[in-house]
Amino acid sequence: MKILLASSEAAPFIKTGGLGDVAAALPKALAESANTEVYVFLPYYKAIKDNPDFEIEYLTNFTVPLSWRSVYCGLFRAVSKRKKLQYYFIDNEYYFYRDGCYGHYDDGERFAFFSKAILESLLHLDWYPDVIHANDWQTALVPVFLRAFYMGSEEYQPIRTLFTIHNMEYQGRFPDEFVDEVLGLPGDWKGTMQFDGCTNLMKAAILTSDRVSTVSRTYAYEIQNPYFAHGLHDVLRSHSYKLSGVVNGIDTEVFDPATDPLIYTNFDAATLEKKAENKKFLQERLGLAVRDDVPMVVMITRLVGHKGVDLIQAVMGDLLWDDLQLVVIGTGEWQYEEMFRSYAWNYPAKMSANIVFDNTLAHQAYAGADLVLMPSKQEPCGLTQLIAMRYGTIPIVRETGGLFDTVPAYDIATGEGNGFTFKTYNAHDMLDAVRRGEGLFHDKEHWTALQKSVMAHDSSWKRSVQEYWDIYHAMTD
Ligand code: GLC
Repeated sequence: MKILLASSEAAPFIKTGGLGDVAAALPKALAESANTEVYVFLPYYKAIKDNPDFEIEYLTNFTVPLSWRSVYCGLFRAVSKRKKLQYYFIDNEYYFYRDGCYGHYDDGERFAFFSKAILESLLHLDWYPDVIHANDWQTALVPVFLRAFYMGSEEYQPIRTLFTIHNMEYQGRFPDEFVDEVLGLPGDWKGTMQFDGCTNLMKAAILTSDRVSTVSRTYAYEIQNPYFAHGLHDVLRSHSYKLSGVVNGIDTEVFDPATDPLIYTNFDAATLEKKAENKKFLQERLGLAVRDDVPMVVMITRLVGHKGVDLIQAVMGDLLWDDLQLVVIGTGEWQYEEMFRSYAWNYPAKMSANIVFDNTLAHQAYAGADLVLMPSKQEPCGLTQLIAMRYGTIPIVRETGGLFDTVPAYDIATGEGNGFTFKTYNAHDMLDAVRRGEGLFHDKEHWTALQKSVMAHDSSWKRSVQEYWDIYHAMTD
């Protein structure tokens, strides 16, 4: 089978969040199957073009029609010996030779161009996939353009589309005129494109894709409910017949405490005492009190409201009254950054605020910490809890989305479960879950058994890849 994965980011080339990890690991896992070709399409951003570590070759150029525009498009490819997995880059310096990936005034036009250029590339490569797998609003126009402009041709007609939602919050909303002025879609497309007085790209993709998926089973259910859907619950409900939830995996080679080159010392479930050396190293590096008898809780997250930082803010005083250490790594809203900085200033032995995006420090924190805290209001999947478990770091999570699916509540009577959980979005419920974690930390026998059992949790892509295959086959057979 031939699969085209369209994404606005994929590690190692470019990554701003979880999508970048998924768009790196999923194609890798898919390409392991026999008789499979996977082509990943990315914008040729400045950060990729200017990075001498990547060997990228020029293939061809052509023009892409976008409403009244005729736009230059260069097609590049990463030099690779693996014929089954190829990375293609869509070049246009006006659109993509800028700093960062998103947040420009003309993002709608930039990603409309990207989506159209992907479809035009097929003609020039003379390669037609069985399935196009698009992700989030940035590539939501691929299924739309395919239906509107390409389905008439013999080569494009058999292509089927899957649209994966990684987060309902970002839907790609643009003004009304966008449909005609930028996309150049015929007038009868207005109904498909419009929602709530704007053009809504995610809604259009839900309508036009053959199948829709999201990144956990629980989130697939939640987004049919107004609390989670950011307005699109009715649209999702009426398309629930083609909606499924497939939980993300992680790259178990990159996140392996036995081989991870970024951590202080390697360990596995049989040498857990070495995890203590990683903790000591982290305490020294961060200037915390060097103690092995205090539970260390880490947060590796964007510091924004829906990650549950407001709950932490509400009980910061109580938390720091406990005998624990709190390490925060991440950037985000100014008010939260300042809050953590100020507590770290006042409690230097207990609290460390690292207002940075630092991959090495994140790995060292996974390896050294005892507990990882994720009190998200909404979490489509979440990768942090999966990575943490690989390193024997126990999750404390709110029971939502992928957190609910991957971290069943620990039961001391049976030894089953992966972590400490709470249901209601309430700061004191969260505090209670943290304290259950602190309590078990001091019960060494049960604690070590729990660490070993979460380390054995299978977060690889194996099972999920099978579920994607089932979807691909259901569309194409
Ligand atoms: C988004 C979601 C996150 C998910 C990731 C990858 O960033 O917020 O929960 O893990 O996408 O699918």
